[in-house]
Order: sequence, then structure tokens, then C-alpha cells
Amino acid sequence: MAEATIDTVTSVPVAVVGAGPAGLMLAHRLGRAGVGTVVVDTRTRHGISTTQRAGILEADAARDLVETGVSDRVLREGHEHEGIELRFGGRPHRIDFKDLVGASVWLYPQTDVFTDLADARDRDGGTVLYGIRDTEVLDVTTDAPRVRCTAPDGTRHEIRARYVVGADGSRSMCRDLVPEERRVRYGKEYPFAWFGIMAEAPPSAAELVYAHSEHGFALISRRTDRVQRMYFQCAPDESVDAWPDDRIWETLQARVAGEDGFRLTEGPVLERTVLRFRSFVQEPMRWGSLALAGDAAHTVPPTGARGLNLALHDAKVLAHVLLRALGGEGDTALDDYQPRALRRIWRAQNFSSWMTRLLHTEPGGTPFDLRRRLGELENVAGTRAGRTYLAEQYTGWPTGA
Ligand code: PHB
Repeated sequence: MAEATIDTVTSVPVAVVGAGPAGLMLAHRLGRAGVGTVVVDTRTRHGISTTQRAGILEADAARDLVETGVSDRVLREGHEHEGIELRFGGRPHRIDFKDLVGASVWLYPQTDVFTDLADARDRDGGTVLYGIRDTEVLDVTTDAPRVRCTAPDGTRHEIRARYVVGADGSRSMCRDLVPEERRVRYGKEYPFAWFGIMAEAPPSAAELVYAHSEHGFALISRRTDRVQRMYFQCAPDESVDAWPDDRIWETLQARVAGEDGFRLTEGPVLERTVLRFRSFVQEPMRWGSLALAGDAAHTVPPTGARGLNLALHDAKVLAHVLLRALGGEGDTALDDYQPRALRRIWRAQNFSSWMTRLLHTEPGGTPFDLRRRLGELENVAGTRAGRTYLAEQYTGWPTGA
């Protein structure tokens, strides 16, 4: 697009593409240190705040929201969980995080994390342009990269920056800026997806229930005292139209049924979505003046509840190295980003794909596969070492680990 068509030019140290948790948390952290940002996103603020995503925050991530001054709402409206329940063979098996590793997690949906971060940007005078289109990221191999986009009112913006961060999610356009011959994409597809629902009903269990049955996986999570979030394994090409309420409840009940007579409290299904997922990492996470963060650089299946936590961890590490770079160290400071972020990313990749395989049933799996899976579940839930492994991975690792 020609220079003449630009209506507004803004200069900031860091331009951020993507207003999800990674992009907004990065902007918040930089803002707190006096570094200006402009964040842009193709989605509207309403669109982001109403798209259901995962709901588990590591204790460190919850603490960071409070201590960095985003909001303390997580402490008031979130729920601290000291364990989860694994259900298999028709029986419950508690994984007691507090007892095993002295840790806990917070049930606090990503939509709330987004709302807190977006409100904090407003409060602190940060610029976020929602609902933009025609995004172009230019000159990332120079020290004067630019982002151009069209705002909803039709005005063309150019943001001139020293660094650009691509935090534009699992369908990132920024990651394509790393030339094909210089990047590696690691990935794995799964032969199943999750059917996610929101139901108007009281909670069925005090903690999250991860259920494995011969019919497939189910997860019982929650949102509020009146609305619950649940998922069950389905085919990747499943259609939501084929699932009236009765069929959904019958499927979920069959997957959690057991000798203890456990039953879900049913209610009207308010929302239904098929969520496809995969494991994915792109390296390098930095190319010239561009750094990738969150789902743009890596995605995990939702089973281990790692995605949101990884995004917030990237933002923490990246804010730190960007402040060093802008504070006089220059580009060499950015060399520390990938090694510090990537170690945890691959640990989370391993855990997420392990937990996914542990709990789902493979279409076309043999009776041997099913019986072996039950043996593995017994090894995990039935030994202290197994439970400790799960608890340690699920509750997260220290920063940089
Ligand atoms: C959720 O509440 O949406 C949720 C919780 C845990 C997961 C995935 C999703 O592992």
C-alpha cells in the first residue's frame, strides 16, 4: 500500500500484533517499566472476551496478575484448586497437588484474564486497536520495523517501532515472516477433537474431573455457581448440529459413570463448539526485530491446561529481554529469549501430549491398546511417584525452567 494512504503515524518502542493474553500481558509489563506499546488485533474486544478458552492458571501466573498490578480479581472471583480427580475404570482417583508437591492452581477462565488485562490497558492509558484489518508487518530484518493496518473507522495507521512482537495466535501471520528456509515447524495432529459445552446447571464436582472411559475422554470443569464448562472427546469433523441436549448429556454421563454412582447435574446447554487441536512449535521464535510469543510460536492440546500459562510465561521472559535490549544492550539481549522460553515450551509440549494420549481413546485402537492404557493410568494414579509426576507437571514449573 502506498505511503500516501497512511492517515496516522505513531512511534513506539514496541508494536504488538495480537491482543490475547500474551500480547496484552507483554504490553502491561512494558508499560509498567515506562515503555510504550501499540497493540493491534483483528478481533473486536467483544469477540475476544466472549470466545471460550481454557480456565486454569498456575499459582505463579495468578500471583503475577496481582503483583504486577493487572488486577486482584483472580483472588476474589477465581477458585484455588488443590487437586484434580482422574476417573477411570469407573472409579475416582484424587491427585492431591498440595500434599504431593505443595502447589495449587487457580480456576480462572481466560476470558476473565483477557478482561482484566484489557481493563488494565485502559486504566493505564495503553493503546489497543481492536477490529483492525489489512495488517502488514514490514521491515522486520531492519532496526525500524513497522506495522500497518486499517482501523474499523477506515483510517490507515502506521506504527513505527524498534521491535515488533507477533502474539497473533494459532493462525499467526507474523510467524510466516520467518523465511521458510530458516524456520522449522514441529507438529502433530490428533485423530480426535473436543466437543465443548457451557451448561446452565450447578457444579457437579468440587474439583476438575478428567475422565477416561472406553467410550472416550471427558472433562468436567466449571465457570460459576450457575454455569458449567464441560468437554467430551469427539471426531475432528463432528457437527454441533447433530447434538441435541439429550444426546450431549447421555454421552457425558456414560463417560463419567462408575461404581460410586457419580452423576452430572444436567441443565440447558447454552453453547456448543467443536475444538480441534494440535501440538505445534515454530523455531526460531525471533527473527531480526520480530519476536513471536504465545500460540503464534507454539500451541498445545488443552488437556494439560498449559496454553494460557505458556503464553503468560513468554510475556514475562520477553518483557525482561526487551527492557534490557531497549535499555542499551541492543539486539544481543534478545538472544536470551528463545532458550529461556523454549525449555518450558518443550516440557509443556511433552506433558500436554502425554496427558492427551493417557486419557483419550484412539479411533481404531485395539483391545490391547485400551487395556494397556488402563495399566498406565493405574501406574500414574496408583503410585505416589506417578501422582507426583502428574501434580508437578500440571501445576507448572518455576520461571525459566
Ligand atoms: C476449562 O475450564 O475450560 C479447562 C480446564 C482444564 C483444561 C482444559 C480446559 O485442561
